[in-house]
Amino acid sequence: MDKPVISFKGAKKIYPMAGESVEALRGVDVDIYPGEFLAIMGPSGSGKSTLMHIAGLLDSLTEGKYLFDGEDVSFISRDKQADIRNRKIGFIFQSFNLLARCSAQENVELPMLYRRPAESNLHEKSMEALRTVGMENRASHLPAQLSGGQQQRVAIARALINSPTLIMADEPTGNLDTKTGKEIMNTLASLHEEGITIIIVTHDHEVGQATRRRIFLRDGLIERDERQAQSSGLTSP
Ligand SMILES: Nc1ncnc2c1ncn2[C@@H]1O[C@H](COP(=O)(O)OP(=O)(O)O)[C@@H](O)[C@H]1O
Ligand SMILES: [Mg+2]
Repeated sequence: MDKPVISFKGAKKIYPMAGESVEALRGVDVDIYPGEFLAIMGPSGSGKSTLMHIAGLLDSLTEGKYLFDGEDVSFISRDKQADIRNRKIGFIFQSFNLLARCSAQENVELPMLYRRPAESNLHEKSMEALRTVGMENRASHLPAQLSGGQQQRVAIARALINSPTLIMADEPTGNLDTKTGKEIMNTLASLHEEGITIIIVTHDHEVGQATRRRIFLRDGLIERDERQAQSSGLTSP
């Protein structure tokens, strides 16, 4: 078997707060392998977003060990975190997080602007990413001129622009109706088929049903880790 892309050992996250500090992760052990299509599930406040932010190098552990792609990243600097993040990880959020004054294509290009050296074929690449999510004919639209599902497609294209090995999505269907949510899940499933590792944070069981593995968090600990051979409930015939 491949080596894990993400490996947590005894992972703890404590948010220091006036009064009582919050222990959001209380000792998580988990290995996630390249090419997995995985849902992190659990009730509100169970630590899903915290785990995703730390796994995505947007935040760090308080205690324990985190290996990303075999490298110990438990206590690396913010600059080093940003460097790995920009090269290897794409993010999708519940509220899309598109810049209102930028066109769809400009939004997709944003993560590339941080790359050094700058890419020469910026526009070709962003067009290609928009094509992948079926949004090439909306490239010059502003976010306000797009539906929720279309905005999330643009956000997926933005997550794809740096050819990440890993995509992390925090409640990607949370602001969408059921039908549109299913379409977004189908898009993520097809990216999984292309070999990209996909981690989806959700409290929606239907979304969880679409993935191959589900990790259930409760009170900052893994309560259950389920795998299934074949994903189900995706593309309807
Ligand atoms: N930045 C923060 N500062 C303090 N407490 C936080 C912060 N982020 C999350 N928490 C707390 O940590 C716990 C886990 O939160 P979170 O990871 O957002 O859970 P979930 O995504 O499963 O709803 C909750 O009790 C929450 O209130
Ligand atoms: Mg959350």
